[in-house]
Amino acid sequence: MLNDKIRELIEKSKLKIDSVENGTANDLQKIKSEVLGKNSEINGLMKNMRDIPAEERPAFGQMVNEARKAVEEYFAQAEAKMKQKALRDKIEKEKVDITLPYQFSCNAERGHLHPVTLVENEIIDIFKGLGFEVLAGPEIETDYYCFEALNIPKNHPARDMQDTFYITDNILLRTHTSPNQVRTMEKKKPPIKMLCPGKVFRSDDDASHSPMFHQIEGLVVDKNVTLCDLMGTLEAFAQALFDEKTKTRFRPSFFPFTEPSVEVDLTCSNCGGKGCKLCKGTGWIEVLGAGMVNPKVLETCGIDSQKYSGYAFGMGLERIAMIKYGIPNIKLFFENDVRFLKQFR
Ligand code: DAH
Repeated sequence: MLNDKIRELIEKSKLKIDSVENGTANDLQKIKSEVLGKNSEINGLMKNMRDIPAEERPAFGQMVNEARKAVEEYFAQAEAKMKQKALRDKIEKEKVDITLPYQFSCNAERGHLHPVTLVENEIIDIFKGLGFEVLAGPEIETDYYCFEALNIPKNHPARDMQDTFYITDNILLRTHTSPNQVRTMEKKKPPIKMLCPGKVFRSDDDASHSPMFHQIEGLVVDKNVTLCDLMGTLEAFAQALFDEKTKTRFRPSFFPFTEPSVEVDLTCSNCGGKGCKLCKGTGWIEVLGAGMVNPKVLETCGIDSQKYSGYAFGMGLERIAMIKYGIPNIKLFFENDVRFLKQFR
């Protein structure tokens, strides 16, 4: 049994321990030596042992030991609580929000899209808004898809328009994205509204020609599609790509796969049509070829040309990027000179 004095001593010690609840681990250790250390009151009690009658000593010793144990336990709990709180504070302080954007701490430069890709994305966006779907086709083609099915038979002079890289007599690198007109019409029934961007290849090399460049092909096939639809669509496209003041001009032309065929000019984006170096003083810049899909091509692809009609167009992406950004030489796109590329960031 603890006597009142000892009980009081335990309570006093506990209050002292409680008093450093919000203190540091150091404060807590100081209190430990105060309540349990050599010079503590509990320890002092043991020293009083001598003044106690011999027969009461065992009971007294047990009481003091119990008191010491009670204070030690209380202290251990306080210490554990403080450690837990310190850990919680540390976790809270070091919390990392992994949803925040990455911060560049080194000098590495961030990459960006190539100007041809930028123009491609922009054109795709415009036509997607007009309801076109984007399809892709192979870069290595057969003679059939690249020429025959597009009404360009073997030995036809129109083949001279496209200097072809042949792999075998029958297999070649596509010279234009038009073979995808055929591939699409073979697979899908009208209504068709497709756009096909991709690389094309020609044995051609100067300031405005590269052996590899990019085109975008467009094809619409449905009932009652007319030349007016083609003209309206391309005008809307030109105004979206450059600005609302851009005018379109349609000149008669020839492509074996369209009838009639047109060449489409836009008012020069540099001078607004007044005439400058870029448009060679004419005020106009030729940007694409187009026309009404030749009924022969529709029939070759299994589409009834009595019931359906269509229009198609094809344009070179580098050419459009050169006009849009005032780039004088097509080679700049492929030299990977960062001083050039950085300007499109
Ligand atoms: N394929 C042609 C070329 O590369 C461009 C072209 C002209 C595509 C008229 C067409 C079109 O779809 O109707 O020169």
